[in-house]
This record gives sequence, structure tokens and C-alpha cells, in this order.
Amino acid sequence: MSAKPICAHDYEKHAKEVLQRSVYDYYRSGAEDQQTLADNEAAFRRLRLYPRMLRDVSVIDLSTSVLGQRISMPICAGATAMQCMAHVEGETATVRACRSVGTGMMLSSWATSSIEEVAEAAPDGLRWMQLYIYKDREVTRSLVRRAEAAGYKGIFLTVDTPYLGRRLDDVRNKFQLPPHLRMKNFQTSDLAFSSKKGYGENSGLAVYVAQAIDPSIKWDDIEWLKGVTSLPIVAKGILRADDAREAVKHGIDGILVSNHGARQLDGVPATIDVLSEVVEAVEGKVEVFLDGGVRKGTDVLKALALGAKAVFIGRPIIWGLAYQGEEGVKEVLQMLREEFKLAMALAGEMFSSFLSQILCGICEGCHSVKEIDKTLVRRDPFTISRI
Ligand code: FNR
Repeated sequence: MSAKPICAHDYEKHAKEVLQRSVYDYYRSGAEDQQTLADNEAAFRRLRLYPRMLRDVSVIDLSTSVLGQRISMPICAGATAMQCMAHVEGETATVRACRSVGTGMMLSSWATSSIEEVAEAAPDGLRWMQLYIYKDREVTRSLVRRAEAAGYKGIFLTVDTPYLGRRLDDVRNKFQLPPHLRMKNFQTSDLAFSSKKGYGENSGLAVYVAQAIDPSIKWDDIEWLKGVTSLPIVAKGILRADDAREAVKHGIDGILVSNHGARQLDGVPATIDVLSEVVEAVEGKVEVFLDGGVRKGTDVLKALALGAKAVFIGRPIIWGLAYQGEEGVKEVLQMLREEFKLAMALAGEMFSSFLSQILCGICEGCHSVKEIDKTLVRRDPFTISRI
């Protein structure tokens, strides 16, 4: 591709051209018929923005906080596994890019760079650890302890993966890591997903998950995790109000509304369509975040208007990595920031989230920012009448 990429889909087009087919398929795929994959993006398009005019938008502050840590914008890098397939520097490039734009990165348990390598690449960068609970609780405990020791600021516990969703391209490709790579956080070749045999005709990763990840975890296991760490814990993968309330009841510090980038149960709703339900259910007791299908600044604005504190980006980070490593990820994040800033301005959203936090703190009963923000978004009336 000769022209410079200028939107998230351009970066994806480039990645499709340069990545090995099975690698691109792994990054891109959703589960089964990929209904939810399409809907994650389509659902944003079904929402219309209702801008306000003449509100002096000459100064816009995009900064906010996640779990008490300040960031320059409400756009962070989500956990995507095995980033060294996209670029030789993988996760270390991503964390440096996030640091340089002043935002945070969630590191996958299944990273191809270790917890410590990523910390060393950006010692003062904001990092969180995504956690899978392994059948071997010592392995799990050690991941958490290492993240804590290396200065990660929170644990995002993935709750939607007792088994891996069926991603058809990965089954067809019998997906495995290339031989020079392994999941760097683990010692044995089995846990590092670098065995050369034993995965049969299936996606190697699906077999790995069935062998290693604990499908028996329940809400009570949150207490176990809270006993292992004093870091804040966010439940990643909640899609319903009752689960959100359950999470709060069990002392969870935040909720990431996520359908795992449509890679687990196909047919679940787009995340933006269930965000309000979750936000209402938690009644402001914990922070709520969203990921899934966020590709544009207007998507970020819609998610914030419906109550998300910040959004996480999955695939576009990978496409940035494939484009130019650290520089490519930085470009993607800066592009999303500029798009979001323009969307804020054109929507008359002069409220900086920082200012609004202060205002909300002073004025009792003032959920006003959320209330005001909500009026920015309405479902497309034409779509509704066609259904
Ligand atoms: C993921 N996701 C993910 N989630 C998780 O908890 N642990 C992981 O290791 C991974 N790995 C992973 C790999 C790839 C290639 C993708 C695309 C996704 C899910 C991820 O954190 C996030 O929920 C979605 O990627 C968000 O959707 P978008 O932005 O990709 O549409």
C-alpha cells in the first residue's frame, strides 16, 4: 500500500497485505459466523449524535483517569495476545507507544514479551495486567505477584473465557505460534504454547485453553484473587446488569463491558448496545469501561456519552504494530485522539472530563455530566422503524 494510512481501516488493509495469512486471520477473526464481530462496529453506526452549537470549544481537555491513574485521553490499549507476530518488538513497542502518548496499556497473560520486559521498556508507563485463571493456581498467583512487583496498576480478570470461542479460520489454519516465539510469561513449553505437538486438527490455542485454563471459576474465586493482590481488580467481559451487580457485590473495582472482540460466544450483543444497562446497574459504585469495535473518534464519544469512563482498543493497535512497530502504534493512538478531539468540538462537548469530575464532586446529586452527555446520542430512528 503506497498511500499513508489515515484511518483505522487503512491500517488494517496494510496489515492484511504484509502479515502472513494465518497470523492476520488470528488477529482479525471473530467466533463462528462472526455476527457479533460485524455488529460491534455496526452498532456504533446505528447511533446518531445530536450536537450542541455555539459553546466555545476552543479549548478541550481530553485527560481523564482510570482506577485513579491520570491519562491524557480516555483511549487505552487493550490486551491482545502474541503481539510479536505483528512486529518483532511486539508488546515492548506497544507499551512505549502508549507511554509516549500518555495513555495506559493492558498486557495480555499470553504476551510474547514477559511482564518484566514490558515493564523495563516503559518503567514509568501506565500498565495493567490482563489475567486468565489457570487450573494451576500457583501459576496464576505468580502472574499476579510478578505484575504487582513490576509496577502494574491493576488486574483485568477476563471472565468470558472458560473455553476458547470457535474461530473458524484458526481451526482451518490449525493455528499455532511460529516456532521462534512463545508466551513469555511461562516456563514450560506446554504453558508457553510452544509445544510442537498435541494440538491435532483444531486451533492450537483452543486446545491450549482446554488444557490449561480453569473452566470451573465462579464469583467466589474473586475473593481468592483479592487475597492474592491488593491491586484493583476489573472484571473484563461483562455484558449484563445482573452480572455487573454481582461483580460489585464481590468487591470488584471496575467493569470492562467487553465481548472479547467478538471472539468468544457468537450472537452476543455489540458492547455499545449493553453499555447503558451495565452503567445503570452499578449505580456509580465502580468505573465502567468498554471495548469492542471502537475504530473512530466518534465511537469513543458515543461510548463516553453512554457512561464509559474510557475505552480500550484491540485490533487497531495490532494493525499499527504491523505498520511500523512503536511508531505505528503511536500513529494509531494519535489519530484516534485527534478524531476524538474533533468529534468533541463538533458536538459542542466543551466539558473536559477532568472538570466534570470536579464539578460532580462539589455539586450534590449532580450526575449532570452523565445526564447531559447522554442526550448527545440517540438510536437512529430509521433503523428502529425498519426492524
Ligand atoms: C484479544 N482479546 C484478548 N482478551 C483477553 O482478555 N486476553 C487476551 O489475551 C486477548 N487476546 C486477544 C487477541 C486478539 C488478536 C484480539 C483481537 C483480541 C480481546 C481484547 O482484549 C479486546 O476485548 C478486543 O480486542 C476489543 O475489540 P476490538 O477493539 O479488537 O474490536
